[in-house]
Amino acid sequence: MLLANKKVLLCVTGGIAVYKAVALVSKLSQSGAHVKVVMTRSAMEFVQPLSFQVMSRNDVYFDTFDEKDSSVIAHIDLANWADLILVAPTSANFIGKLANGIADDMASTLLLAATAPVWIAPAMNVHMYEHPAVLRNIDRLYRDGVRFIEPSEGFLACGYVGKGRLEEPERIVELVDSFFNETPPLPLTGKKVVVTAGPTLERIDPVRYISNFSSGKMGYAMAKAAFELGAETILISGPVSLEPPEGVKLIRVESAAEMLEAVLDHYTDADYIVKSAAVADYRPKTVYDQKMKKKDGAASLELERTTDILKTLGEMKTTQRLIGFAAETTDAVTYGKGKLEAKNLDWIIINDVTDPAGGFGSDANVVTLISRSGVELQFPAMEKKELAKKLFTTIVHEGQDSL
Ligand code: CTP
Repeated sequence: MLLANKKVLLCVTGGIAVYKAVALVSKLSQSGAHVKVVMTRSAMEFVQPLSFQVMSRNDVYFDTFDEKDSSVIAHIDLANWADLILVAPTSANFIGKLANGIADDMASTLLLAATAPVWIAPAMNVHMYEHPAVLRNIDRLYRDGVRFIEPSEGFLACGYVGKGRLEEPERIVELVDSFFNETPPLPLTGKKVVVTAGPTLERIDPVRYISNFSSGKMGYAMAKAAFELGAETILISGPVSLEPPEGVKLIRVESAAEMLEAVLDHYTDADYIVKSAAVADYRPKTVYDQKMKKKDGAASLELERTTDILKTLGEMKTTQRLIGFAAETTDAVTYGKGKLEAKNLDWIIINDVTDPAGGFGSDANVVTLISRSGVELQFPAMEKKELAKKLFTTIVHEGQDSL
């Protein structure tokens, strides 16, 4: 049963094609769907409600004020019940009413209360279908999110040959089936994403090191999101105490130098590189083989710069999309934008690490996402896992138009 337990609400409006809607209900029910039918008065001029009642094995609704169950309000209850609402056949008049938000019968009223997807299968005379008013109304409904099952061409009941015939019930059932059963490809299917996460650790001697407070949570969340959105995901992680997300390839590194090497190994064929890691900017100039012994008085440590991994990637960039993070304590957006430019990034995710709602170690984060093309979006405080998915989805979606 292809449509087992799917709830389809069919609104039937006036037109000779109403007889085909009876066949449609029959086929939907045979495929396992629960079907409820709402008719307009004009539809009832063509076929008696009883035909639909028998085919759907449910009451048929046509009167907004006929409340069959006193515990609910029928038009709201029907609208909420449906997983999908089909209007078939749809007359020119009904398209006009819907486009203008008119609610003067059961079908038009429940459609205003509906949150489920609405599909309209028009059926009318070819000249009516081409009338500018009808085309205008269709366009308006399309912009409102309604989807259309185009009428096929053929002999129309009025004697004309042309576009206006209700699509065949078998084809409508096929479309309903693909709506419920076809999983659309994930947005990162076929893409390779490299994510870096956590701090780096720069050794001083066998027992001491320099590092930072990065927990790796944001980077691990980004890797999890990339994998769940369909990407082949490589997670290059500094030392953290987190379980790697399922499905990602984990490469553990310690220092900035090791992280650079691991990233370069995967850079050429990567589609997205997400640099969430808090890479140390400095490392001890000398790393001692033996533990440094304490001496009287102050001590000082000479540091040298590490390579800026992200900047290096920005200089080498060909087709890769580079996403950097900016951890700031003041003027976050200004500094973030500076890094976007200076490191030749496509996107930068800026967070103010002093914000109590997010930052290092926290499970939540508050960020601003800025693209090179000028998109600037602020995300409210939310769990890093949820945020990561939203960030990736935005980057992939916006990236198609604006980069
Ligand atoms: N980054 C990097 N290599 C470094 C330093 C930073 O790849 N040696 C990356 C980080 O992974 C991050 C971005 O650069 O994606 C910005 O890091 P951040 O620490 O905010 O800034 P810095 O560039 O280090 O600048 P500053 O210390 O002046 O804020």
